[in-house]
Amino acid sequence: MELIRIDTSKTSGTLKPGEIESLAGEALEANALLHSRKGAGNDFLGWVNLPWEITESTIAEINRVAAGLREKAEIIVVIGIGGSYLGAKAVLEAMTDSFTLLRSKPVTPVVVFAGQNISEDYIHELVTALEDRSFALISISKSGTTTEPAIAFRILKSEIEKRYGKEEAASRIVAITDSSRGALKKLATDEGYETFVIPDDVGGRYSVLTPVGLLPMAAAGLDIAAFVKGAQDMATATAEGVPFEQNPAAVYAAVRNALYRKGFKIEILASYDPKLLYIAEWWKQLYGESEGKDGKGIFPASVTLTADLHSMGQYIQEGERTLFETVISVGKPKHTVKIEREETDLDGLNYIAGKRISEVNRMAEIGVAIAHVDGGVPNIRIELPEINEYYIGALLYFFEKGCGISGYMLGVNPFDQPGVEAYKKNMFALLNKPGFEKESEEIRKRL
Ligand code: PA5
Repeated sequence: MELIRIDTSKTSGTLKPGEIESLAGEALEANALLHSRKGAGNDFLGWVNLPWEITESTIAEINRVAAGLREKAEIIVVIGIGGSYLGAKAVLEAMTDSFTLLRSKPVTPVVVFAGQNISEDYIHELVTALEDRSFALISISKSGTTTEPAIAFRILKSEIEKRYGKEEAASRIVAITDSSRGALKKLATDEGYETFVIPDDVGGRYSVLTPVGLLPMAAAGLDIAAFVKGAQDMATATAEGVPFEQNPAAVYAAVRNALYRKGFKIEILASYDPKLLYIAEWWKQLYGESEGKDGKGIFPASVTLTADLHSMGQYIQEGERTLFETVISVGKPKHTVKIEREETDLDGLNYIAGKRISEVNRMAEIGVAIAHVDGGVPNIRIELPEINEYYIGALLYFFEKGCGISGYMLGVNPFDQPGVEAYKKNMFALLNKPGFEKESEEIRKRL
């Protein structure tokens, strides 16, 4: 079975024949470096073999805890930010009914997120929305010290304890954190929360195949075994020793580096299904944090089409020519909706009567690709047969592997994020956090 196909033929107006293949050696070397664990950031390569290391008993344990939460709660609040949030959010958005809350019988539990911002109104609205619903919390932080989720957890912990009492509240809270360090770990031990560990050698943005991603998915009722199987099959398809042209992650890394070296500095991830919007958000974190350093890196942007053709379409077609586009093309939708014939045809749509909406979407996709290529925007196409747990698992691992290879080809350490600390230092200085007295004095002079 072909998992995910990558089509680079629409970069041929920009890249000469053989130009992608000329980077095959570099890409395969980078892939081998990931597997040998001899490259930069090698203490964070636990994600490479993760799909093969997830045992049936781990999946059963995650499903057991998820079932407990599902039984107790109509709403499950997942608290986390960055890599401790985006993977689960991406898969849930892709997989769950977009209008569940409008249904007379919403599919419960509904999984919502907190701790990914410091908006007072967001947390207030969430707390008040929980007032007449049963709820549970999954608190995720690898470091256990990140400010945004820590604030959300402090508020929601107080709410859940007020509602259920300390003992019952503790049975409704699951912590996912480091095995030994951090405030969340200490709190979980002191309060007796059910706890899952984020492996030391897996960084946040590569953690979707740990309980960080798997528990929220299972809590929402998704088939995590199928998700892991998809990732496993993609891990096999992109393993060390797979020839270049058969390894979609190596091809993807090669084509984007070939374009980058020609001045194409911005990659737009496009999809024609709004369900994939958060896959793009997850992808942006993965590639942005992994590659954007040392004054280098492709800037990852995203659009959801056709909606954004009515906003960003003009720029993509005719703006500065530093863009290339990577389209996630979904093979078939889950449902069938046809356009009906109308006697009066006032809207002039009878010429497409009888067609499925997806046929119109497909023609938009093909037409846009040709228009953008004609406008000087090279186009890479990633074909995803359908949106289900298996293929999403494969897609996310494909992007992880492509990112590791691409980062090494770019010559950076794809597994650190030193730049993320700069804002934190200033924020702590401005908030007079103990230990930041000197920074506090300095930053105040600049206000
Ligand atoms: O990719 C990363 O490492 C970051 O985005 C982290 O996931 C994010 O900062 C959250 O960190 P933590 O899980 O320690 O709260």
